[in-house]
Amino acid sequence: PRRGHRRGPRTIASDDRATRSLGSTRKDDHIRLAAEQRREPAARNEFDDVEFVHHALDGIDVERIDLAAHVGDWTWPVPLYINGMTGGSDTALGVNRTLARAARVAGLPMASGSVGIAIDDPDAAASFTVIRDENPDGFVMANIGAGRPADHGRRAVELLGADALQLHVNAVQETVMPEGSREFSGWLRGVEATVAAAGVPVIVKEVGFGLSRRTLRRLADIGVRIADVSGTGGTNFARIESARGEDGFAYLAAHGSSAVACLLDAPADGPQLLASGGVRTPYDVVKALALGARAVGVAGTFLTLALEGDAERTAAALERWCTELRMLHALLGAETPAALAHTDLLVRGRAREFAELRGID
Ligand code: FNR
Repeated sequence: PRRGHRRGPRTIASDDRATRSLGSTRKDDHIRLAAEQRREPAARNEFDDVEFVHHALDGIDVERIDLAAHVGDWTWPVPLYINGMTGGSDTALGVNRTLARAARVAGLPMASGSVGIAIDDPDAAASFTVIRDENPDGFVMANIGAGRPADHGRRAVELLGADALQLHVNAVQETVMPEGSREFSGWLRGVEATVAAAGVPVIVKEVGFGLSRRTLRRLADIGVRIADVSGTGGTNFARIESARGEDGFAYLAAHGSSAVACLLDAPADGPQLLASGGVRTPYDVVKALALGARAVGVAGTFLTLALEGDAERTAAALERWCTELRMLHALLGAETPAALAHTDLLVRGRAREFAELRGID
């Protein structure tokens, strides 16, 4: 569908300002620039600092592996999901359709991009609802920003018939965006209000800068049960927004913590953990699971699959990830994702230094 003129209420959320001034080009910029980051020579990240000590006789039979992930009150078939990315343009609709079809075939939960655009402009709704239309029985997560009024989260859930709401806290991205918000002091109370109003469980997530021990504690204190640490090392929104604007704040590309660091830092009494940010392969997935994540999200790597292939090829690639995950569990002697906690892990380099400075054993 073509985008029409803008309707809907005026609010102060930065999402609105952004889309009003730039229309769908902002969402297309995100897709293009995120995909460009992926085409750079395979970057190392802190998942490379994590090493399984190889025990040559620990392996088990692949038929014994049960990949089911227990997140909140849900059981997901695999500990892997398609993280929140897009909606709000024709390109976004195509990406969401491809990913939703692939998610249905492979049995992966999938999140939408921020539904804020569709709340402001009903003409944009189809680029989001395609995720549910293509996958009527799958696990779908709607997505909204922390700067939005609480009822927008509920409306996003209703629009997609979503099973859960992802609520993103993206202060670094907002700071770098020329049209972004500069008012963050109300976010914690806003998150609390959205959790109360959503009607489904809320998963609070970063967008690639990580959630610290302090943040996870504060979230637990206001009743958030599930959080996706979404750390550095993959899609970098400081670089994306900087490239879209006048290249200010490019130095914030170095800001934030990796998923590995966040998982090491996480408090035992905090929310249940999901991890994302910089996941390139099923090997990164098992590392995050071994560090305590219940499931692992992938955005940029799967975006590239969707842009380069049709739904069928994308589905085959996602199924291949699931097969490899199963085989890696057998290799590592873990019958379930939770059993990966008993593997012998070494952490080196920057992630280790982070853990030492934070007083973590
Ligand atoms: C994102 N991400 C994102 N997150 C969110 O909560 N709402 C959103 O609307 C978007 N939009 C978006 C667009 C595109 C094109 C990408 C690639 C990503 C962030 C995403 O969910 C994830 O947190 C980060 O991208 C880090 O994971 P990867 O990309 O390194 O796997």
